[in-house]
Amino acid sequence: MWGEQMKISPIDLTIDELPDKWYNITADFPSPMSPPKDPVEGESRLKLLPEFFTAEALKQEMSQERWIRIPEEVKELYIHVGRPRPLYRAYRLEKYLKTPAKIYYKREDLSPTGSHKVNTALAQLYYVAKEGYERVTTETGAGQWGSALAHGAALMGLKCTVYMVRFAYNLKPGRRTIMKYYGAECLPSPSNRTTFGKKLLKENPNHNGSLGIAVSEGIEDALKHDDTVYCLGSVLNHVLLHQTVIGQEVIKQFEKIDETPDVMFACLGGGSNFGGFTIPMMGLRLKKKVDTRFVACQSEVSANLVNGKYEYDFGDAAEQTPLLKMFTLGHKKDMHPIYAEGLRYHAAAPVLSYLRNLGMIEAKVYPRDEKLIFEAAKIFMRTEGFIPAPESAYAIRAAIDEALEARRKNEKKVIAMNISGHGFVDLEAYDKFI
Ligand SMILES: Cc1ncc(COP(=O)(O)O)c(C=O)c1O
Repeated sequence: MWGEQMKISPIDLTIDELPDKWYNITADFPSPMSPPKDPVEGESRLKLLPEFFTAEALKQEMSQERWIRIPEEVKELYIHVGRPRPLYRAYRLEKYLKTPAKIYYKREDLSPTGSHKVNTALAQLYYVAKEGYERVTTETGAGQWGSALAHGAALMGLKCTVYMVRFAYNLKPGRRTIMKYYGAECLPSPSNRTTFGKKLLKENPNHNGSLGIAVSEGIEDALKHDDTVYCLGSVLNHVLLHQTVIGQEVIKQFEKIDETPDVMFACLGGGSNFGGFTIPMMGLRLKKKVDTRFVACQSEVSANLVNGKYEYDFGDAAEQTPLLKMFTLGHKKDMHPIYAEGLRYHAAAPVLSYLRNLGMIEAKVYPRDEKLIFEAAKIFMRTEGFIPAPESAYAIRAAIDEALEARRKNEKKVIAMNISGHGFVDLEAYDKFI
């Protein structure tokens, strides 16, 4: 290996090249998206939204503006947490796979808490503090989003309560420690803190929980306290909007090396990682400037894009959110726990569901036992050198499969994937696959 031509893989951007706007792809949609609506029966969920979201989050949620300026304070925080982030060429992985394809990966794992979730946590919390609230509540599956919110809340002097899906809470004590060290409270969901949680625990004291349930608990808690708002880690337009800093950086990085990805892979639970990585490039495809393919990587337990129906459904199990038009398995769907807990959500973001319906997004689904996923993570660790989050390993699996197919067909394609997080706090899961 030594003595070969030096291969420098990171493609870096300078701080000056950090995007200064978020990109709202809905402004470029060929027809309007179906708006959120109220169910026929019961109280208005739409009227309830200002009771638990910040005014700015709601404004951005409904915005038709193509570009939304990133406040200077948020830009400063982005720089503080290491943005812009490098794009790497996976020379060693390519060599291992003996593929003629070029493989690139974006490093969202390099954030302080280990995932892309920091991009929206800092933005949402900036508005929470600006609007004078003192406390935030949220849900978390993998624990990455809860950690990111706990981190941001600590920086901004806000109190934070995280409802963590019970299966993951029990599996990952390290994530709980991180949140608590930041000063956040972390409760297993279903919890005894909310009426909804108590009801579910009464029915089943060993309830594994789900993201939909944890969302319900976070909302209920915020609704009961005037000084508290709720922050969501995925699905909604404003969350995906904040994540578009990833994809905008990726476009600049590919421009620097004069390449365009033929295909982009990212895992998809609710869609914030997939959306953040691909939406800016999808905007270019809508304008017919590129013909990149976009592939969402999912688990069979929650393959909302493949097995879901494109229809109106609630975002949470207790039906407190408005109805959103999305590919959904049903908000009461019982999904078997997996180690990539962050992917176990019943529906895909409305923006991505719209794009899927338009034929812009493909999906790859992997079996529940996750053997192929952890095998891909192992190959990646041994070639590129670091441990990915189990969720991110879905994208790695798909990229490896694509690269192997390129080898069979002798195709020189350009593959890009997003490493949405690192796996240092997922070792309990890794341990099962050694
Ligand atoms: C590392 C990582 N990647 C991806 C996801 C999936 O969420 P989303 O689809 O919102 O990106 C999660 C969720 O917790 C995560 O922790």
